[in-house]
Amino acid sequence: MTEVRIVPERSPRLERSPRLEGKVAIVTGAGSSGPGIGNGRATATLFAREGAKVLLADMTEERAEETLALIQAEGGTASTIQADVTNAGDCERMAAACIERYGRLDILDNNVGISRRGTVVEVSEADWDHIMAVNVKSIVLASKFAIPHMMAAGGGSIINISSIAGLRAHSSTPYTASKAAVIGLTISMAADHGPDGIRTNCIAPGLVYTPMVAPRMDDDLRGIRSAAAPLRTEGTAWDIGNAALFLASDEARWINGVVLPVDAGLVATSPVTYQTLGQQVRL
Ligand SMILES: NC(=O)c1ccc[n+]([C@@H]2O[C@H](COP(=O)([O-])OP(=O)(O)OC[C@H]3O[C@@H](n4cnc5c(N)ncnc54)[C@H](O)[C@@H]3O)[C@@H](O)[C@H]2O)c1
Repeated sequence: MTEVRIVPERSPRLERSPRLEGKVAIVTGAGSSGPGIGNGRATATLFAREGAKVLLADMTEERAEETLALIQAEGGTASTIQADVTNAGDCERMAAACIERYGRLDILDNNVGISRRGTVVEVSEADWDHIMAVNVKSIVLASKFAIPHMMAAGGGSIINISSIAGLRAHSSTPYTASKAAVIGLTISMAADHGPDGIRTNCIAPGLVYTPMVAPRMDDDLRGIRSAAAPLRTEGTAWDIGNAALFLASDEARWINGVVLPVDAGLVATSPVTYQTLGQQVRL
């Protein structure tokens, strides 16, 4: 396993108004599944850096506590909650805790997701149900209990984390199906809740290097992944977090129902020419 070394930059001194001043956010999966910075951790840190109060929800609370330590070291405001977002009771409790602690809810980053490889022939029924619950049902349940509070606040921003795997085949059929469902969910939620001032958008991360993928990476594969997209550089969780920050902020006030690939141009140019590297690699 290659260790993930993505060190958070020091918090810059802001010589302008924080972009999320006065706002309250929930980030689900706000920990990281291994050492380093995952998408949820980076997003929560950036939200707090820009003035939001952040509820850090994770099934494994110790992981969220590591994120909390990063935020507190920068002088931000956050707290943790143990919640399994596949469980309706936990999602209701999560939204209620946010109101109890911070008095309102403006932003929900539905970041939780897991990956599974395999075809429809290979996947077990139990694995199929599990991945759909973690990647899709979690968004439905977290949003179900968050939206009434956002309506009470006069509107809000929901960011659903899909994947470029939801836009093109990826040798992991359950994951692709679940991430495509996240896109459908986003479009429908944007229509349903837009009239209440709630914007729902979706980020489709590309081949970013995070603790989620690190266990199956070596330096060669990281190089191939980085070379696959036109920018020829490796993406990090901060790239995803910065996109979420924009969609959460009022700068995106007229953006609703979009799918934003953050992938160095990989989807725009697929299929890429990695066959010329002399090996059959499905990225
Ligand atoms: N890393 C990539 O290359 C990549 C690419 C595309 C999309 N994504 C997406 O990004 C999202 C997450 O990225 P990450 O880097 O933060 O992942 P991560 O694995 O580092 O962290 C996910 C966190 O979610 C928590 N979690 C898992 N199941 C949960 C549940 N049921 N309830 C509450 N918490 C739960 C885990 O404990 C973990 O702390 C996922 O939706 C993933 O599909 C990642």
